[in-house]
Amino acid sequence: MPVTIAQIQKWKQQKKTIAALTASDYAIAKLLDRAGVDLILVGDSLAMVTLGYKNTLPVTLDDMIRHAQAVGRGVENALLIVDLPFLSYQVSPEEALRSAGRIFKETEAKGIKLEGGYPEMVSTIRKIIQAGMPVMGHVGLTPQSVHQIGYRVQGKLPKAANEILDQAKALVDAGIFALLLENIPTDLATKITELIPVPTIGIGAGKGCDGQILVTHDVLGLSDWQPSFARKYVDLQAVITDAVQQYCQDIRENVID
Ligand code: KIV
Repeated sequence: MPVTIAQIQKWKQQKKTIAALTASDYAIAKLLDRAGVDLILVGDSLAMVTLGYKNTLPVTLDDMIRHAQAVGRGVENALLIVDLPFLSYQVSPEEALRSAGRIFKETEAKGIKLEGGYPEMVSTIRKIIQAGMPVMGHVGLTPQSVHQIGYRVQGKLPKAANEILDQAKALVDAGIFALLLENIPTDLATKITELIPVPTIGIGAGKGCDGQILVTHDVLGLSDWQPSFARKYVDLQAVITDAVQQYCQDIRENVID
């Protein structure tokens, strides 16, 4: 049965933890879906792990749509969410509406995610939701602001922690269906999870969240670098390198046609 937004919201009440991962292509999306991942995010981290950029800023709305279409063809059951990329929603609420609308018109997305909880962003999110498009919020470390905040843990000091908590509450008031908490202290993420009625999905935010997400390339050992909180379950760089070296050797030794 396909996972729905209503279902992950019910899971929060039932204390069933949501297992989420990212995907950017058909083959991996199909495997994640068949393995039983609840929520698949076409995250703008694909800028780095799939397209080889240094950060998420260069990826375009067209890029996101192309990758989301491929992922959508591989997903039957997981809840498919797509990131709005940098500068596709910050310039004006009208542009944000159009960008969000393109995701829903051109892909199988059931929701979009965008970064930030400051007042202008909250009112933009409210407009997108009023137009019928479900939105997942994203606070804490917001990688599209890398040149302002780097990749450091956010919300360590009481003032910063309160700001993130206030942003979470404002986003809930605006109508988000779920909230991604990235790289914030465990106690802050747990507090937000207890206080808000919608599911929290954590990445580097400790065990107290309603769900967890990681970048699939980190989990599978396909990244050159990965954050310390990202557990590598298999080293596919080594597996693939061995297989390809074996292939090259077989060809050169004329073992296969
Ligand atoms: O783009 C991404 O991969 C993300 C992560 C925080 C999951 O948004």
